[in-house]
Amino acid sequence: MANIIDGKIISSKIKNQIKDKVAEFYNKYNRQIKLAVVLVGDDPASQVYVKNKIKACEFVGIQSLSFSLPKESSFEQVSDCVKALAVDTSVDGILVQLPLPKGIDEEAILRLIPANKDVDGFLAENLGNLSMNKPSTVACTPFGVMKMLEETGVSIKGKNAVVVGRSNIVGKPMSMLLLNADCTVTVCHSKTNDLKTICKNADILVAAIGKPKFITADMVKEGAIVIDVGINRTENGLVGDVDFDNVKEIASYITPVPGGVGPMTIAMLMYNTYNCALRRQNEF
Ligand code: GUN
Repeated sequence: MANIIDGKIISSKIKNQIKDKVAEFYNKYNRQIKLAVVLVGDDPASQVYVKNKIKACEFVGIQSLSFSLPKESSFEQVSDCVKALAVDTSVDGILVQLPLPKGIDEEAILRLIPANKDVDGFLAENLGNLSMNKPSTVACTPFGVMKMLEETGVSIKGKNAVVVGRSNIVGKPMSMLLLNADCTVTVCHSKTNDLKTICKNADILVAAIGKPKFITADMVKEGAIVIDVGINRTENGLVGDVDFDNVKEIASYITPVPGGVGPMTIAMLMYNTYNCALRRQNEF
């Protein structure tokens, strides 16, 4: 039976470290770190995520500015909000919760965020720097996964890592991080031939597909580390992309859902916001 990588415990440790750093920042620079959070529409999942992000800000001592725009908002209304935050020198980070309502060009909105306030690490500049193994703001979810892997104490150097999912916010940055950590990386997606054989060869398997219990025990190598990024809302509550009950009998380490990668994403957002503030402070 696998060891459970507890995202709640690890994220709490990280948030406590950031809380101390945020207090140090305040004492040194005599100002609060500020994160602007923009939510457009009334998607219930997004509302929960945003609420949890604001709660984490309160815990670590980061001031949050919350902007809630109606789902009927025009592109101009959303872009005006982001543009104002972009030029506000008191704002250290801007987070636009995704997905935006249909009809609003997400990429065009994200491009309005200056790279030094991109706490999500979604901009081309940050993803590009990551892919070149240069300093960058790393997307919170894959960054959190790396912290969880670190926490196992297992060396991942030279290991076969398989990432299932190729999104710009998880799969791509995840594969770059694993590559930068000297893994041999394979990225799979919905068109991949013989997914099972590829997964079965993974020492580290990261599931970011968005399909409940998609990764079954027969797809997992004995002793693999299995990281479940999925959060699927089903009749039976929150379910990951991994068939946890059966896969845990085969893996060496596994993350649960909920209480796995989810809390880590928020802890890394706090880390990124602190880091953006520090970097901006040194730019003045
Ligand atoms: N939607 C799903 N995950 C995320 C995230 O990490 N950041 C933002 N801004 N939106 C998301």
